Amino acid sequence: MTGARYSHRVIRSAIIPVAGLGTRLLPATKSQPKEMLPVARKPIVQYVVEELAANGVHDMLFVTGRNKASIENHFDSDPELFRALDATNKTELLQEVLFEELNANFFYTRQRQQQGLGDAVLCGENFAGEQPFVVALGDSILGLHARSKAVARMADLFEARHASCVVAVEEVPPEETSHYGIVQIADGTDDCMRVLNLVEKPAPEDAPSNLAIAGRYVFSPLVFDLIRRVKPDRKGEIQLTDAIQLMCEEGKRVLAVKLTGEERRYDIGNFPSYFETFVEFALADPLYGEAFRKTLQRLVGG
Ligand code: G1P
Repeated sequence: MTGARYSHRVIRSAIIPVAGLGTRLLPATKSQPKEMLPVARKPIVQYVVEELAANGVHDMLFVTGRNKASIENHFDSDPELFRALDATNKTELLQEVLFEELNANFFYTRQRQQQGLGDAVLCGENFAGEQPFVVALGDSILGLHARSKAVARMADLFEARHASCVVAVEEVPPEETSHYGIVQIADGTDDCMRVLNLVEKPAPEDAPSNLAIAGRYVFSPLVFDLIRRVKPDRKGEIQLTDAIQLMCEEGKRVLAVKLTGEERRYDIGNFPSYFETFVEFALADPLYGEAFRKTLQRLVGG
């Protein structure tokens, strides 16, 4: 410890909200969570878990809802499957479904009503306790095959600058600001920008910039009190962005880290971007990618 309030290892827990209804992906999400939709060979949420573990975050709380039991099942051990794979000497497959090398502890709680992302994070208050923690949205993959070290960079910055919050941001086309939380930046470099204000899903003419919050956050536990002070929006939802705005208004240090090109956020929230993400990941598959490329070329007549 070199005077930092928290040693790096203290930021080893993450809250992963996975309670959203996924209505933009119906009927695929009628009875299965959108976080369990496959992207190439793995469900989306597995990429999120692997990314967190690779960034030194090993205690993970899923904030789930109705119809989300398959997430728990996915990360649980399955003795029948184990026996079947073992008996047929499918040891490689066995490794892929054990998740042991992740060294991860999984916890689950339910958000009982759809009251927004801020409320979902509040469900993790007892889990986080007095320690800083990561929030990683369960429907957002960072980087091709989740090879992003953004969370570790954010955790380092959080400690080094004694921040109250660090958010990941990326540029979006100006006409898309109404899909994201948008930040207003004072100064800084891509690795460390001071955030002055945040607005949740502003119309392009009201957006303070084209830098969108990209699904990863590091928080001091003081965020919980601020979430409790946020008033519900028009849809009755408590927005996490509004709690961070309160932090800014109180003069707390809120910083942003810009994602690099290689760790862009893959948005799974709608069909066009889900299709694109699936194809990009499948093309990069070490085993099947090359053959799939040829299939695609044939299909598009190239
Ligand atoms: C949420 C956040 C928003 C953020 C986005 C992508 O919105 O509220 O600030 O920009 O995730 O990380 P949602 O996609 O859940 O509507």
